Order: sequence, then structure tokens, then C-alpha cells
Amino acid sequence: MDLSCELMGIKLKNPLIISSGPLTRSGEMMIKALDAGASAVVTETILNEIRPNVRPRLTGHDGALQNIRLYSEYSLEEWKRQIGMVKEHGGVVIANILAHSPSEMAFLGRTVERYGADALELGISSPHGEGLSVLGCDPPNLYETVRKVVEAVNIPVMVKLSPNVNNLAALAKAAEDAGADGISAINTIRSILGVDINSMSPFLPTYGGYSGDPIRPIGLGAVATICQTVNLSVSGIGGISRFNHLLEYIMLGASTCQLQSALIFKGLGVIGEILEDLRGWMESKGYNSLDEVRGKALNRLKSFDEIILEPKVAMMAKNCPRPGCSLCETACIFGAVEKGRDGKVQVDTDKCTGCGLCLSVCPETCFTLEWKR
Ligand SMILES: Cc1cc2nc3c(=O)[nH]c(=O)nc-3n(C[C@H](O)[C@H](O)[C@H](O)COP(=O)(O)O)c2cc1C
Ligand code: SF4
Ligand code: SF4
Repeated sequence: MDLSCELMGIKLKNPLIISSGPLTRSGEMMIKALDAGASAVVTETILNEIRPNVRPRLTGHDGALQNIRLYSEYSLEEWKRQIGMVKEHGGVVIANILAHSPSEMAFLGRTVERYGADALELGISSPHGEGLSVLGCDPPNLYETVRKVVEAVNIPVMVKLSPNVNNLAALAKAAEDAGADGISAINTIRSILGVDINSMSPFLPTYGGYSGDPIRPIGLGAVATICQTVNLSVSGIGGISRFNHLLEYIMLGASTCQLQSALIFKGLGVIGEILEDLRGWMESKGYNSLDEVRGKALNRLKSFDEIILEPKVAMMAKNCPRPGCSLCETACIFGAVEKGRDGKVQVDTDKCTGCGLCLSVCPETCFTLEWKR
């Protein structure tokens, strides 16, 4: 079973990379993640100046995380030692950098390349801090930044994009035109995770970045858009905590994936679980390499104009086995599903509009959508 893959020409033993964040804040942390099975690590964002981190800065609820952490607490000079430690350990390090201008970004890129970084990730997309508003949402600015960095270094350059924009495809194209080798997406999403109604205060004192399980659909959508737009290595990020999440990104065209929040909540053991389950799934399906599934779902993604309107309605594929359940009856806002006193579920195909909701809410896959007989 071969899980190896390639990111911007760099050979990796598997597609699972640790994304930029507190779990990659030091050489020691990065080595722990690599020892747990990750194929590469992306450093926490490295800046020219150190930003103090406010307290509190993290809040987590129901698999979702909000953070207002502002990048690395180590100086640029200190990163020489931290990156050096990982390189001595034999690990692949992608240095995530952020600066105020294209030339400062190029300077940072050159510096971390000298420190031994295998590739760069331009961390222009955090919703807090200034990177996104200055460099990460304007295609000409992004083009200029990427071009300056690409000209300054001899290692691959990846650009990390945000979903907090309305021109994702244009930004991806600008990065490609400027010579980037890869794109990673998504960064966290601007948010307020909640308000304590007793103290009438938001959980954290300013807007923060939303991550974890609930952002996966947004990450998947962004990755699909990017893969449809550019011909670059794409690293999919957002809400990955299980092997099937990782496969979803790969099937939409990503060559690798990154994760952070799931490891914060559940520990580094998640890395081994994902890889083992991925191997098990591939074996059970008879696949030998990820290339056999990469992009397969992207090929099935259609535009509205391409979707053929078919007279399909819901039908019972089998009898309902759950006496206490009525999820389908409640969810059908067209009143087409009825559960009788005898526990039998019936669909009135004259009322059914084929919306598909009963198929997804039924925990027993009792429904199919078929041509009306
Ligand atoms: C606490 C925390 C700190 C983060 N810091 C950075 C950072 O310094 N630079 C960066 O590019 N992304 C940063 N991220 C974003 C992650 O790398 C990732 O893009 C995002 O969390 C979505 O992935 P996830 O749902 O697996 O966490 C951070 C995320 C978290 C949760
Ligand atoms: S497909 Fe939609 S309209 Fe038809 S039965 Fe299911 S929920 Fe109701
Ligand atoms: S949702 Fe499925 S399991 Fe629940 S009542 Fe309907 S058919 Fe039965």
C-alpha cells in the first residue's frame, strides 16, 4: 500500500501535513508531530517582529475552535535553530512567513531558505492581523508579492488562501501567474464563536479565526474552486479529523492535506488513526495509490447548466427498521412522507418534489431517488 505523494515536487511518505499553528510553534513540537507519522510540518507563521499573544486567545465548542493567536513568539533569528532541529531529525519543513510588503516577504523567504526550509508557505490569509487585508485579497498585490518571493528563492513557494474573499479563483490565478508552485487552503474564517449571555460578552475579546470540524464544507468548496482554476499542487485544509475527510479533499483534487484543530482537541494520536484508516479503506477497495482516487469527485462537479433535470422522486429502498424515529416525516416540508401507526413509512410520489432531504436525514438509508414510475 503506497500512501506516498508529491507536493510541489517534494516527495512525501503520506499526504498528512501539520498546518501552521501552535502545534508547529517550535522545533521540538514539529519533531513530535513528525514522529507521530506526519509527512511534513508547516511552521507557525514567522514574522520579522514578535507579536505578544493576548490571554485568553483560544475557545473551543463542539469540535469548533476560535483563536486570536497572532503568529510565532520566536524571533526570525531563533527560527534558525528551530528549523535546524527538524532538518537534523530528517523532517520536511515548510516555513510559513508573513511580512508587510513584497520585498520584506522576499527577505523573509531568503532567510528561512538559508535556515534550511524545504519550501515556503506565504501566510497572507489569517483573518486577524493585517496579512489578509493587505496582501491576501487583492490579486495585483498578491501577484507582486508572490513574484518577488519566487524571484528571491530557489525552493518551492506555496500561497495560503483565505475563504474570506469573494475572488478566490482570481487570487489563485494571480498566484499561478506570478510563478507559485502550490496553493494551500483554507486558513481560518473570521468569526465570533459565541456570546456569554449572562455576562453579555463575546467568548473572546475580538474577531477571531474559526477552525475545526464545521469549516470543512467551506474548505472543500475552496479547494474544488482552486483545483478547477489552476494547475498547481494544492494542499487542502479545514476540519480534517478522520481519514474520510482527507479523502474528500484528495478526491476534489488536493495532492496533500493539512490539519491543526483536531490535533489540538484530540492529540497527536489522530495522525496514526487517520493513516491507518486510510490504508484500511484503500486496501478494502483494492486501490494501490492515492493517484487512483485523486480528482475523481472534481470531475463529477457540474455547473448548473450541465445538470440534467430528471423526474426523480423518493422511494423506499427497504422497510423502516426504527419504530421510534420520524426524522424523514418531519424533514419533508412537502408533506410527502408519512409514517403509519404500524411503523411503515410511505412516500406519496405525487407530493414528492425530489428535493433529496429524506435520503440524507435517514440514518438507515431507507430511501432512494428514482425516476417516477
Ligand atoms: C490556534 C491556531 C493558530 C493558527 N495559527 C496559524 C498561523 O500562525 N499561520 C497560519 O497560516 N495559519 C494558522 N492557523 C490556521 C491553520 O493552519 C489552519 O489553516 C486552520 O486552522 C484550518 O484547519 P483545521 O480546521 O484543521 O484547524 C492557526 C489555527 C489555529 C487553530
Ligand atoms: S425527496 Fe424531498 S419531497 Fe420527496 S419525500 Fe424526500 S424530503 Fe419529501
Ligand atoms: S428517517 Fe429512516 S429510520 Fe427514521 S423513520 Fe424515516 S425511514 Fe425510518
